[in-house]
Amino acid sequence: MRFVRMHLNESPFEPSGLVASYVSRYVSSLNLYHVEELEREFMKRLSGYVGLPEEHLRFFPSSSEALAAVIRYCKSRGLRLVSVWPTFHGLLEFARMEGARVDLVGLAPDSFELDLLGLAREGGSSRALYLCNPNNPTSNMLFEDRATLDFLLGRFGLVVVDEAYFEFSEFTVADKIRESDGLVVVRTFSKAFSLAGARVGYIVASPELASRLGEHSALFSTPVTSLAAALGALQDLGYMREVVRRTIELREELRRGVSELGLRSLDSRTNFLFVRVPVPGRALARRLSEAGIKVRAYDDEAVRNYVRVSVSTRENNLSFLRALSEILKTL
Ligand SMILES: Cc1ncc(COP(=O)(O)O)c(C=O)c1O
Repeated sequence: MRFVRMHLNESPFEPSGLVASYVSRYVSSLNLYHVEELEREFMKRLSGYVGLPEEHLRFFPSSSEALAAVIRYCKSRGLRLVSVWPTFHGLLEFARMEGARVDLVGLAPDSFELDLLGLAREGGSSRALYLCNPNNPTSNMLFEDRATLDFLLGRFGLVVVDEAYFEFSEFTVADKIRESDGLVVVRTFSKAFSLAGARVGYIVASPELASRLGEHSALFSTPVTSLAAALGALQDLGYMREVVRRTIELREELRRGVSELGLRSLDSRTNFLFVRVPVPGRALARRLSEAGIKVRAYDDEAVRNYVRVSVSTRENNLSFLRALSEILKTL
């Protein structure tokens, strides 16, 4: 059975046509570990896209790998990790794999807003705070002002902001790294650039921190063709912006559909919705899966009655709404 994939926050749109031409241009270089000219061109383009000089940037084979490098760096410096909860589950997984402990501070129940005082209590110069903004799985912004960032930068030795969904939220703190040594921004090509399968991500940090973080990743770990794919995507920003525009349009349609079925979802700034459901999310996800649709659900108490639904094509979104409507009738 072929499932409708609404569980991994992938883009429902294929990559830009330029991706295929860049990948095929570099296929014959796959005998090499890396291609200097490709890396130079990629860094130049990435620097233009981010709006910061190249010395602030390092690429990694996915933002997951970038986060793992950040965790290794924290461990090597004796920085203890703090994170809000619920947030990107991968962070806890990567920390577990690296043998690092993460202290969790709960977001406000159901509004999933930051508890700044609670965070401040966990602060300290030997603590590193991870914040996913906008947050996965809750889809909302955790902050959208400079004062909150300044507050946190003043209280933690390092603040890691995961901007995996930046292109959808259009809010970034990347430019702040010009002033701060204690900030790292993590981004990915997996979402807005429709390149989840290429596995390319990057970090933005002060030149010194960027170079230290780079030391926590193996040499030549980003495949030549993946970097070529990411370069192709960067050469076609108009396509990416159109993907974002259409995804947001489809997201709002899906949100209206969910609301017409009597369910509340959070105001999303991402490519997915976080929907409150009248039964445990796991039970609903099982029923949807029987109808051929995959969504994400959680065991954790704070999000037990929610499902996370990635925006897909209009056809898939309608299949989801139809299946959901049928299931709700039987509850
Ligand atoms: C917040 C967040 N960070 C990181 C990732 C991992 O992305 P990548 O594909 O770059 O490993 C995801 C993927 O869903 C995510 O939601």
